[in-house]
Formats: sequence, C-alpha cells, structure tokens
Amino acid sequence: MKTFPMSPRLAGADPATLRGWVAAGREGLCRMLRAVLRALDGGLNASHPPVASATCDQTQPVPGGLISLVGAGPGAADLLTLRALRCLQRADVIFYDRLVDPEVLAHARPGAERIYVGKAVGACDWPQERIDAVIVAAALQGKRVVRLKSGDPGIFGRATEELAAARRHGIPTEIVPGVTAASAAGAALGRALTERGETDRLVLATGTCRPGDDAPDWGAMLMPGTTLALYMGVSQAARIEANLLAAGVPDRASVEIVSHASGADQRIVTCCLGTLARTVRRQGVENPAIIVIRRPKGELSCSALHPLRRVG
Ligand SMILES: C[S@@+](CC[C@H](N)C(=O)[O-])C[C@H]1O[C@@H](n2cnc3c(N)ncnc32)[C@H](O)[C@@H]1O
Repeated sequence: MKTFPMSPRLAGADPATLRGWVAAGREGLCRMLRAVLRALDGGLNASHPPVASATCDQTQPVPGGLISLVGAGPGAADLLTLRALRCLQRADVIFYDRLVDPEVLAHARPGAERIYVGKAVGACDWPQERIDAVIVAAALQGKRVVRLKSGDPGIFGRATEELAAARRHGIPTEIVPGVTAASAAGAALGRALTERGETDRLVLATGTCRPGDDAPDWGAMLMPGTTLALYMGVSQAARIEANLLAAGVPDRASVEIVSHASGADQRIVTCCLGTLARTVRRQGVENPAIIVIRRPKGELSCSALHPLRRVG
C-alpha cells in the first residue's frame, strides 16, 4: 500500500482544530456545488422558461389548456405507444401531419376535431408560424390539444418552435415519444442499426438542411464504426453520394433504403454508396424513406452482403 507523509501542520494539530478544518472544507465544497447547480439551472432556464408540466393522462379538466406533442410512430398503427393512444382518446382537437397514417387517426376519440396541418414538400399552406398560432389558440380555449407528428416528435419534428410558442403563453406542454422512422427502417431490414464491434455509433441526420445553413461535415458524420440514418435524403441522393465520397467514405459502404417503413407499401432497395444516386433514380425510390449507410470498423463488403434487391 502506498503511504503519504503528513504535513507537519496537520500532524501537529489537535483533534478539535482538525474537525474545524474538515467542517470548513465540507462547507466550501457545498458552496461550490450549490453555485454550480445555480449556474446550470440558470443556463437551462434561460433557453427553456419553466412551465407547468401536465399530461393528457389526467382525468380532471385542463382549464388553461394543454398541448401534447405526440409521436404517431412511422405508420403502422400498432406501433403507437399506449400513452399516445390515451392522448388520442382524450384529445379535444388533433392537429396532424402529412405522414400520419389514417389508421392511427382512427384511434382518436370519435368526437375529437381533426385538423390537417401537413406541409407538402415545397408548399407553404401551413407554414410553421401558422401551426404554432392555431395550436396555441386552441389550447387557450381550454382544450386538450394533441399535436400529432409522425415518428418521434423530437426528431426532425419542429417540436422546438411549438414548445416555445406554448411556453410564451404559459400553456402546459408534454412530449409523448414515438417510434422514429430509423428504428422502423432497422426493423424492416431485420438488422440492428448498431452492431457490436462494427458500428458502435448511430448518427441520425437530415439530408435537407435549412436553406442557408452551412453544409454538414460529412466526413465526421460517417467515421469508421458508424451507421448513418438519413432522413429526408431521397431528393438529395446525388449530393449526399458526392459529398460522402469527397469526404473519403469508400464507395463500397453499404446503403439500404427503406421507404414507407412499417407501412403496407414498405419497400427496400440496397446498393453501394458509389451507386446511390443512380439506384434511387432507376428504382424510382419514393419518400418517405430512410437511407441507412454503414461504415463498419472492419472490412467493407457491400456488394457481397447486399446485392440489389427489392421487397414489396
Ligand atoms: C419531417 S421528418 C419527420 C421524422 C419523424 N419525426 C420521425 O421521427 O420519424 C420526415 C422524414 O422522416 C422519414 N420518414 C418518416 N416516416 C417514414 C417511414 N414510414 N418510412 C421511411 N421514412 C420515414 C422520411 O425521411 C421523411 O422524409
């Protein structure tokens, strides 16, 4: 065992003095921890002002309204969570997206109002500010509002804007998570998204950034040992292929594209990164789709493992 020499000052101190030093040290440490907690709290509250939390589960009326951002899952109604189902059955009004399957909506309370607020790609009938305004207006009438979003509301779901709008009006909010499209794509492939020793990192990214934003660092996104699940990537296939190749990702990285994951129209197309754009074009791959690109730590064996195939 290693021993350390005691300082002469410590060695000469009487027990009462030693106890005093320990107590002072402990108090100093506590003061420091309290300051750190205050700083963290201030930092968090600065961007997310506190609001009453509530849940659509509660049976009492919600006089101040409530907005629940509910994940509808990737399509199949039996991938809804029980909590999402309860919210649908308690809602006064449901604002739903383009990708929400009618089968999911069929589970809503019969008397619930259903309002479509879907954004068709490139169209702007329901710009985000208008959606923020209508959900807030409904909640301010004391309604239980369900904002039903495909997949998980917190993944490429514009949840931040809607939460902020609700919080500005002091409306209680909650997020009910859902099965995200990448999970459904993995299930459709019958293959894990992370494979021990090969891909120990999963990156969820969008193929379509906000106009004017800096281009993502594609090389950093797909380092060896990564599975990249790209949302909203089909229309950008040529750019994605070119950027990843330019960033040094080998053209033999395997690509699996799952469209309409979990739905009746589910379809799988596979290829290597070097033929991504051509495959999307030739196979007529449609949205919604997830592009799964794998760059394992070990050897790449794209064509050997994944010959081009179609399912459905
Ligand atoms: C605006 S994002 C919404 C993502 C959603 N919040 C989620 O967690 O899955 C829309 C994109 O999600 C992907 N997506 C949604 N549903 C899908 C499905 N059933 N199959 C494949 N991709 C899907 C597509 O890339 C689509 O363009």
